[in-house]
This record gives sequence, structure tokens and C-alpha cells, in this order.
Amino acid sequence: MYFQNNKKIFLISKDFFRLFLIIFLISLLPLYINAKESSNTEMPKHDWSFKGVTGVFDNASVQRGFKVYREVCAVCHSMNLLYYRDLIDVGFTEEEIKVISSEYKVIDGPNEEGSMYERPAIPSDRFVDPYLNKEEARISNNGSYPPDLSVITKARKYGVDYLHNLLMGYSEPPENFELGDGMYYNLWIEGNQIAMPQPLYDESVEYDDKTPNDLEQLSRDLVTFLAWAAEPELEERKNLGIKVILFFILFGFLVFLAKIRLWREIN
Ligand code: HEC
Repeated sequence: MYFQNNKKIFLISKDFFRLFLIIFLISLLPLYINAKESSNTEMPKHDWSFKGVTGVFDNASVQRGFKVYREVCAVCHSMNLLYYRDLIDVGFTEEEIKVISSEYKVIDGPNEEGSMYERPAIPSDRFVDPYLNKEEARISNNGSYPPDLSVITKARKYGVDYLHNLLMGYSEPPENFELGDGMYYNLWIEGNQIAMPQPLYDESVEYDDKTPNDLEQLSRDLVTFLAWAAEPELEERKNLGIKVILFFILFGFLVFLAKIRLWREIN
């Protein structure tokens, strides 16, 4: 009898250990996938507040990044998938958004007389395009089209790290490098030449808070803004993921208890 009991305790602890191990390994899976993604050596990696299982967007950084986009990139690049009202997510107030959107002009209509008219944008409008159409965009940029930036962090390999490197990767071409007409040397673009002149420099944009505005910081904030734009539901998705993992741990434990109970007699 004594032996029986002992054996049972042993069995339980062994089972428990196995179950614990499986659950532990499963919960490590997201970390493993993350590590795998970042194990590449050619493209320098950077730390981002929104990376990792529990990463979240730093709203102050997204807001500063939006300022950089507005003052620099928006001259050439559209962000068609964004509406001004989306900015509420990153801590702008409704009043602020009204003021921001009213600084842009959209073509609306037709009115009762059948003609199109210009009006200030409102929060329910999409981000206003810098050009009337693709042709105008091309002709203004030496024949190259500045791509829409709404989901650019998803559209490029190495996403945010690539963009950060790209914005900081302009330099003089090495000797013997044949740079095309109207092209600029960049270490990180494929083929090392790009039709976009270096858009950001130290102090290109003045911040309202006391954050330093060197090139590295401007680019970091801008890329954080672009990452938010491409995946505004990221935090919700991660929260849900954590809840699901907790649920499975709890559920696994209940199943385990039920198993011990059901098999008690047989063991
Ligand atoms: C003077 C206009 C102009 C400004 C300002 C500008 N860009 Fe560009 N951008 C371009 C053009 C033109 C291209 C297309 C380049 C090419 O195809 O070689 C481009 C391409 C890009 C690309 C795509 C690179 C790739 O991998 O294909 C990204 C990303 C980008 N710009 C981001 C930005 C950001 C961020 C800013 C603001 C800091 C900015 N641009 C400001 C004109 C501009």
C-alpha cells in the first residue's frame, strides 16, 4: 500500500513534469520565431519598442514620426490607407486632428452646379496625396515613382530595420562606381542607387518636446510611425496572443487534473 502510494506520487510528478515542459516549450515558440527572424547578419538590426512578444508602440515617438512624415516625406509620398481620424489611436485629440486635417485641401464634388470644388480636409478624409496622379508624381521625380508609404514596413524585406538603415545610408559613391543620372548612392538599396535624394538630415525637423533631433532620432521616430501605420492593430493582436497562451496553460492544467482523477483507479 505504502509502495502503491509512493508510486502514484512518482507517476503524478512525472506526468506533471512532462506537461509543464510541453507547455513551457510551447510558450517559448514566439521567442524562437522572433530570434530566427533577427538572426540575419547582413542587415544591421535595431531595437524597437514594438518588437517582441509584449512590445508596444511608443505614442510620443509615433507622434514625432508623424511630424517628420508631414514636414518631409509627404511632399513626395502618399499614405493612401490612412485616415486623419486614425491618429486618435496614438494619442492625438479630436481637436488636434481637426486642426491637422484642415491644413490640407481635397477636391470634392460635384456640387449642385455639377462642378468639383476644393475644401479643407476633415478627420474622415484619407491622407491627402501630394500629387494629382501617378504621372504627375513621376514627372516631378525624374521619372521615378515615390511609392505609397502606408504599408512600406511590410512591403520591404527586413522592414523597419531596412528603412532605418536606408534613411541613414546615404554617402558618396566609392571610386569606380557608375552612378546613373539623377541617382544617389545608398548602401542599403538593391544595386546601391536610388532616385530619392537623401530626405533626412540632422535637425531637418524641429520637435516640440525636448527630444534631440539628430538624423538617427528623426529616422527612428519616422520608422516607428510607419510601423504603426502598417499595423495599427499590433498591440491588440499581441494582447490576444498572450491571453490565448494563458488560456491554454490553464486549460492544459485542468485537463491534466481531470486525467489524474479519471485514471486514479486504474493506476
Ligand atoms: C523629393 C521627393 C521625395 C522625398 C521628400 C522623399 N522621397 Fe522617398 N522616394 C522618392 C522617390 C522618387 C522614390 C523612388 C526611388 C527609386 O525608385 O529609386 C522614393 C523611394 C522611397 C522608398 C522606397 C525604397 C525602396 O526600397 O524601394 C522609401 C521607403 C522612401 N522613399 C521613404 C521616404 C521617407 C521615409 C521620406 C521622408 C523622410 C521620403 N521617402 C522622402 C522621393 C522622395
